[in-house]
Amino acid sequence: MTYPSSPPPVPTIVHRLADGRRVRAVWVNGDGGVTFRLGSGISAEFVKVADATVDFAAEARRLRWAAPHLTVPPVLGFGVDEAGDRAWLHTGALPGLSAVHPRWLAAPEVAVRAVGAGLRVLHDRLPVWSCPFDWSATNRLDRLSSKGRAQLGEPPPIDRLVVCHGDACSPNTLIDDDGRCCGHVDFGELGVADRWADLAVATLSLGWNYPGRSWEAELFTAYGVRPDPVRIDYYRRLWRAFDHTSDAASR
Ligand SMILES: Nc1ncnc2c1ncn2[C@@H]1O[C@H](COP(=O)(O)OP(=O)(O)O)[C@@H](O)[C@H]1O
Ligand SMILES: [Mg+2]
Repeated sequence: MTYPSSPPPVPTIVHRLADGRRVRAVWVNGDGGVTFRLGSGISAEFVKVADATVDFAAEARRLRWAAPHLTVPPVLGFGVDEAGDRAWLHTGALPGLSAVHPRWLAAPEVAVRAVGAGLRVLHDRLPVWSCPFDWSATNRLDRLSSKGRAQLGEPPPIDRLVVCHGDACSPNTLIDDDGRCCGHVDFGELGVADRWADLAVATLSLGWNYPGRSWEAELFTAYGVRPDPVRIDYYRRLWRAFDHTSDAASR
């Protein structure tokens, strides 16, 4: 599920943060997490609410680290509700529409270009040398069972080490009125890794988000790289090992 078809219940924490402003659910992810928009226009804010096991402190740390280098949402707060069962992350709104907003689903060639070019900007701008977060294949393999690790095999040699977004699916790119990337959201997994860890997932998600034909060539061109089948295959299998397949359309 992506844009909610029927309005989910509004948690008390969201009402409290809204402080009388209009609340609208804008997104439901595959794990039941919901993102709400508070108010409208340039002063709008967003609250992401999820199961209390979700570590929004980690996402807030990553957003704050990336903010001097890239257009990312300003963190306004995060926490766990009083009952202790819902975690929340409160951010200021970025302008632009998600690459999977109906406006951009109707113009996939523009959206895909923006996602690819936007990913390139993200990789070029975030400084590897000062990034304290690790999303390397080795680090991720350590979180798998020995059977899972054996199935994946050794990661391919690094092509180019960058700070990866960590969830480079299309919905996490925002696009302005001119069809250009104007920001990124959803930084819970950001960390240093081979750029193919992001590129493999960014192209994988195009199939779910813009069905009907392959847009992978357009994304690679917009990013400025030739496809690397071995690394794409490895990093897609690594992604799937964390059971992301079923909800790739709603990330
Ligand atoms: N601060 C923000 N400014 C603008 N849009 C946002 C903001 N936060 C979230 N969104 C919108 O809500 C959607 C869901 O947020 P996201 O952080 O990606 O949640 P999830 O982890 O559930 O995918 C995004 O794709 C984007 O369209
Ligand atoms: Mg997302």
